Amino acid sequence: MKSPKPAVEITATGRYLPERILTNADLERMVDTSDEWIRERTGIRERRIGSCELSCAEMGTAASRIAMDRAGVTAGEIDLIVVSTATPDRLLPATACDIQARLGATHAAAMDISAACSGFIFALTVAEGYLTAGRGEIALVVSTEKMTSIVDWDDRKTCVLFGDGAGAVVVKRSTNGRGVLSSFMRSDGTLAELLWRPAGGVIRPLDQERLAAKEHTVKMAGREVYKAAVRSMAEAADHALARAGLTSDDVDLLIPHQANMRIIESTARYANIPMDKVFVNVDRYGNMSSATVPVALDEAVESGRLKPGQICLMVAFGAGFTWASSVVRW
Ligand code: ACO
Repeated sequence: MKSPKPAVEITATGRYLPERILTNADLERMVDTSDEWIRERTGIRERRIGSCELSCAEMGTAASRIAMDRAGVTAGEIDLIVVSTATPDRLLPATACDIQARLGATHAAAMDISAACSGFIFALTVAEGYLTAGRGEIALVVSTEKMTSIVDWDDRKTCVLFGDGAGAVVVKRSTNGRGVLSSFMRSDGTLAELLWRPAGGVIRPLDQERLAAKEHTVKMAGREVYKAAVRSMAEAADHALARAGLTSDDVDLLIPHQANMRIIESTARYANIPMDKVFVNVDRYGNMSSATVPVALDEAVESGRLKPGQICLMVAFGAGFTWASSVVRW
């Protein structure tokens, strides 16, 4: 099957990572854990942690400015801003509106997408649809996450996993054969309670009791999440490649969601892609939810791992459950 003609392309990328590093040694002083346990089970050595004052909008705006500079795009030219975040600065309004205001993108519609760790690919796919429908010319897709603000720092099963950061991309209509060849998205809301924050919404508003019980922090059934993540990301990879008329042999670089080294290795194995074609930075940043894929993409482009014309497969899995993939000719 011939590959479809891409309708949109990512013309530039950017990232922002807080300067402060939290190492496994630091965590050893906070909870009953060890550097060895964390590295063996997750591959994580350190992660970034934002200050209390640092907002998701600030991180997302910083990443966006870099991407916009590289793309040669001004704020006034942006038609759409789609932000994915599991840690919005406020419940109302959207973090995207805050980013829109900070950038001065007065011409843009701005909205948040809540698809947890799969959020970047969901947001990219929404932007692709908007531009393809002829509703605009330029979109900004931003993933910004302050995961360290929603973890329970007394729960060693979760607090060692996450980090903060943001990534952004500029998306335009494609004119040169490069761009998004296919995408795939799925969700299964019946499994919501395997990875969730029980309180803080309308159903269980926060009160003193729930706050004391830390019901507003991330709860996770690690084993179940692990199994579903591998299965779903492999399925997503297959679907997006088939839709693009490609096979795993055509992939030059796999960018998987960076949750955990063992999940990354298993996903690559199931997807039939050798590890030398897999981008990994989970050792340095931990799991930044939806920001992992665009941050990795930015690093891959900057370091020359991903070159013009190459085929990049992005794949992610997260709370919801949600899972998604996208194939891009860079
Ligand atoms: N340090 C030391 N010991 C720990 C730690 C820790 N940080 N965390 C758990 N343990 C202990 C447990 O208490 C347990 O001890 P016990 O046997 O005495 O009860 C033992 O280690 C094994 O615990 P498990 O939870 O069974 O360990 P497992 O091998 O499943 O690894 C992990 C846990 C790393 C969380 C794994 O399940 C995993 O990677 N799950 C995927 C979760 C994930 O990445 N979620 C991120 C969000 S979703 C996403 O982004 C895809």
